[in-house]
Amino acid sequence: MKRIGVFTSGGDAPGMNAAIRAVVRAGIFYKKEIIGIYRGYEGMIEGDFVPMEVRSVSNILQRGGTMLKSARSKEFLTKEGRTKAFEQLKKMKIDGLIGIGGDGSFAGMHHLYLEHKMPYVCIPGTIDNDIPGTDFTIGYDTATNTAVNAIDKIRDTALSHNRLFFIEVMGRDSGYIAINSGIAGGAVAIIIPEEETSIEELIEKLDASGSQNKTSSLVIVAEGGKSGSAMEIAKKVQERFSYFDTKVTILGHLQRGGTPTYFDRVLASKMGVAAIEGLEAGQTDVMVGIVHKEVIFNKFDEIMSQPKDIHKDDLRIAKILSI
Ligand code: F6P
Repeated sequence: MKRIGVFTSGGDAPGMNAAIRAVVRAGIFYKKEIIGIYRGYEGMIEGDFVPMEVRSVSNILQRGGTMLKSARSKEFLTKEGRTKAFEQLKKMKIDGLIGIGGDGSFAGMHHLYLEHKMPYVCIPGTIDNDIPGTDFTIGYDTATNTAVNAIDKIRDTALSHNRLFFIEVMGRDSGYIAINSGIAGGAVAIIIPEEETSIEELIEKLDASGSQNKTSSLVIVAEGGKSGSAMEIAKKVQERFSYFDTKVTILGHLQRGGTPTYFDRVLASKMGVAAIEGLEAGQTDVMVGIVHKEVIFNKFDEIMSQPKDIHKDDLRIAKILSI
């Protein structure tokens, strides 16, 4: 393999730049030519390519976002779109791909591999931490720290006014950001997609904490929770529970930006090097993962059929500590 294309796809995540840098530098270290592909699969279809040098990735390690930009491509979901993308890769003499993104991006590379035999390694980059086969995805640690910082600030104002805050965090269908920012931020309740929480249970919990002289309460709501959005839950609770004045904060895309933590930079650096070394060693149709500090390569079919469960102990700990 001589020429490797690198791209970021789907929702950006802090640490993606560190992963691009690692892929480019490790690729050059192993005497490969590295081609950057702008705007994910959109740019691949349009042939929006740029040759990358050692210095093309200077001063990006500490930056949020992605220097290669990202996109969610509808056209690539079609066979025709993927054929167009493959033709562009062939024209550019790219003979291997490293894509940094979430499960949708992984699925895209898998289809390109099945239909056109394009070798690839996926690097998991998403704030959601919802991909099995790795303890952590790039961006999750930074996003959770951002959520915790915001929760701490909201606690100050909540305490000053005896208020009940519902704070909605991202995560799509996963409760990872919610459960861990909830534990770290001292939430009284955490509502996640992986567990049913009824409004009755929530009110009971709030009643119990109110009767124990709590002067404010924070409830963390994962955006994908089955009981509704933070706004909907807050409305239902407010109708029946007048002990506190109720407010809602949606953290939204704030969680996607910002300087990546040391943890995400190191994770991205390790995964970037592993992806290059894996491709060189003949790994393909795989996602690199780090489990218990060890680099592993997960076959698409083996991991994408598994759910990534919230660690049961996290739930238990959150409940013990929120009394
Ligand atoms: O997958 C990352 C993520 O930030 C999710 O947590 C969220 O549901 C989604 O992307 C938002 O997507 P968009 O930026 O396209 O609105």
